[in-house]
Amino acid sequence: MSSRVLTAVAWPYANGPRHIGHVSGFGVPSDVFSRFQRMSGKQVLMVSGTDEHGTPIQVQADAEGVTPRELADKYNRVIVEDLQGLGLSYDLFTRTTTTNHYEVVQQLFLALHRNGYVVAKSAMGAISPSTGRTLPDRYIEGTCPICGYEGARGDQCDNCGNQLDPADLINPRSKINGETPEFVETEHFFLDLPAFAESLGAWLSSRTDWRPNVLKFSANLVDDLKPRPITRDLDWGVPVPLDGWSEQSMKRLYVWFDAVIGYLSASVEWARRTGDPDAWKQWWTDPDAKGYYFMGKDNIVFHSVIWPALLLGQNGAGDHGGEPGAFGTLNLPNEIVSSEFLTMSGSKFSTSRGTVIYVRDFLREFGPDALRYFIAVAGPENQDTDFTWDEFVRRINFELANEWGNLVNRSISMAHKNVGAIPKPTAPTEADAELLAFSRAAFDTVGDLLSRSRFKQAIGEAMRVVAAANRYLSEQEPWKRGDDPDRRDTILHTVLQVVQDANTLLTPFLPHAAQKVHEALGGTGVWAAQPEIREVPDLGGGPSYPVLMGDYAAEQARWESTPIEVGRPLKKPTPIFTKLDPELGETGPEWAPIQK
Ligand code: MF3
Ligand code: ZN
Repeated sequence: MSSRVLTAVAWPYANGPRHIGHVSGFGVPSDVFSRFQRMSGKQVLMVSGTDEHGTPIQVQADAEGVTPRELADKYNRVIVEDLQGLGLSYDLFTRTTTTNHYEVVQQLFLALHRNGYVVAKSAMGAISPSTGRTLPDRYIEGTCPICGYEGARGDQCDNCGNQLDPADLINPRSKINGETPEFVETEHFFLDLPAFAESLGAWLSSRTDWRPNVLKFSANLVDDLKPRPITRDLDWGVPVPLDGWSEQSMKRLYVWFDAVIGYLSASVEWARRTGDPDAWKQWWTDPDAKGYYFMGKDNIVFHSVIWPALLLGQNGAGDHGGEPGAFGTLNLPNEIVSSEFLTMSGSKFSTSRGTVIYVRDFLREFGPDALRYFIAVAGPENQDTDFTWDEFVRRINFELANEWGNLVNRSISMAHKNVGAIPKPTAPTEADAELLAFSRAAFDTVGDLLSRSRFKQAIGEAMRVVAAANRYLSEQEPWKRGDDPDRRDTILHTVLQVVQDANTLLTPFLPHAAQKVHEALGGTGVWAAQPEIREVPDLGGGPSYPVLMGDYAAEQARWESTPIEVGRPLKKPTPIFTKLDPELGETGPEWAPIQK
C-alpha cells in the first residue's frame, strides 16, 4: 500500500479576489484533508494554481480595460495572498501561464492526437454581426436546451451543470450588446468522447465508493457522449502544437482543456523545483498512489468525465487503444470530493449582485481559523448552505470561543497558577481514565471520517472531546482541591493531556490556533506548518511569479495522542479566540453590511 496522496485542488480563475464561497468549496476542505493525511504519515502532494486563460479572464480584462495577461498577473498575486492568509498548505500553487504548463499541455495534446482521440473538423462558431469578431462562448447567453434555465452561458449551464455549445442555446444573445450572434463555419479540434464510452463506463462502474450523486451524474453523462470542441477562436490560451495551427493567432486550446492538465503540470513543476524532476511520477504512475480531487459541484463533469478521458487517451487506453504518451501510464482520479454552494440569503455568491464577502476582508477582521472553523462545521458540504452573520457569530462565540478557547484558557491558567508547569499525576481515578480513553479513541473516529472527507462529522466528533473535557472539569472542580494538591494535579494533568489531544484532532481544521495552543502548552518549534509565498523564476525563461510552497515535513503534529511532558514550564496563557460582538450578527461588518 503506497503512502502517497495527491490532493488535486480546483484551479480558481484569476479574474478577481476570492470570496468565501470559493474557498468553502475547493479551499478549506482540501487543506483539512491534506493536513490530516500528512499528520497520518502519508506523503502528500497538494497542487493547484490560478486558471488564467479563456473567456472568464478575457471578459474581466475587458471590463478593467487591461490585457488578459495584465489581469492574470494582478489576480494571481491577489489570490496567492488570499490562500496563503487562509493557511492552505499547497506543495505548489502555481499558474497556467508558465512555460512548464504550456509544454505539459502541448505534450498531452500531442499524445491524444497521435492516439487518434482528438480530431479536427469544422463546426459552427459565433460571431458578432455588428463587428465581425468572434464571440467567445461566455459572451453568449440563452436558454439551456437541457433544463430550460434562461441564464445559461455558451459554455456551460450553471443551473444543471452541463457543458454546452453556444450553437445549442435557445434564443442565443450577445452579453455585450444583446444582438443575436451569427454562426459561421470554423475549424476546431474535438475530443472524441464517444471513443471513451466503454473505457470510461468500465472505469466509472468500478468507482463503487464515490458519493452516489457524483456517480449517477457522471454515469448519465457517459450514456450520451458527444465529441467536444477543445479549441476556441480566441487569441488568449495555449497554442495548438501542430503545423498550420500554432501560427494562427485566433486558435487556442480551450481553457478547460489546459486547466485540468494543470494537475499534472503543477506536479511536474513541483518536482523540477525540488531538484528531482522525476519525483512527480510517484504520485502519477505508481498505481498504488491515490488521487483526491476537490471542487465545487459545477466542476464535477470536468473531473469525473473529461479529465479521466484525457488521461485514458494519453495512456492509449481509450476504446481503440494506442500507446502511452510521454508521461507513461497516468493514474485516473480515485475520489471526486465535490461541495455544494455557499449562498448568501439564498443566492449564489456573486460579485455582480453585490452579495459578496471577500476572503481578504474576512481575514483582516476575524483571522483565518474563524473562517476555517465556520466552513468546516457549517459549510456547504452536502447541500447548498446559506451564510449568515448571525450563525457565524453564534458558532464562533458559543463553540470556538466558549467551548474550545475556554477549555484551553482555564486549564492552562489553573496549572500555571498552581504549579507553574505541567503537573505530575498520581493515582488516576476511573473518571480520569475514562476521559483519556475517550480522547484517544477519537483519533480513530475522527481520522476515519477525515479520510472519507466527512468534514462536518469529523469536526463534530473532535468537538465532543472538548465538551467531555469541559464536563470533566466542572465535575472534578480542581479549583476546590486546595487541600488535596495531588488530586488537583492529577485532574489538571488529565485535562491538559486532553487539551493536547483535542488540539491535535483540531489541527487540520485550525492550524494557526493549534500552533498557539502548542506553545501555550509549553511546546516549541513548528507544530503546524504554513505555506509561504515565494517569488520564483519561470522554468523556461518567462517572467518570475509568486507561488505558494511550504516546508511541511518540518512540522511536529502527528495523528496520535502525544504524551505531555511533566514539569514543562507554563506561562500565563492569553486567550486564543476573541469573542465577536453579538451586534455583528444583526448588522454584518461595515464592509459587507446586511441588506435589509
Ligand atoms: N477555474 C475553474 C472554475 O473556477 C476551475 C478549474 S479546475 C481545473 O470553475 F480542473 F481546471 F483545474
Ligand atoms: Zn441547464
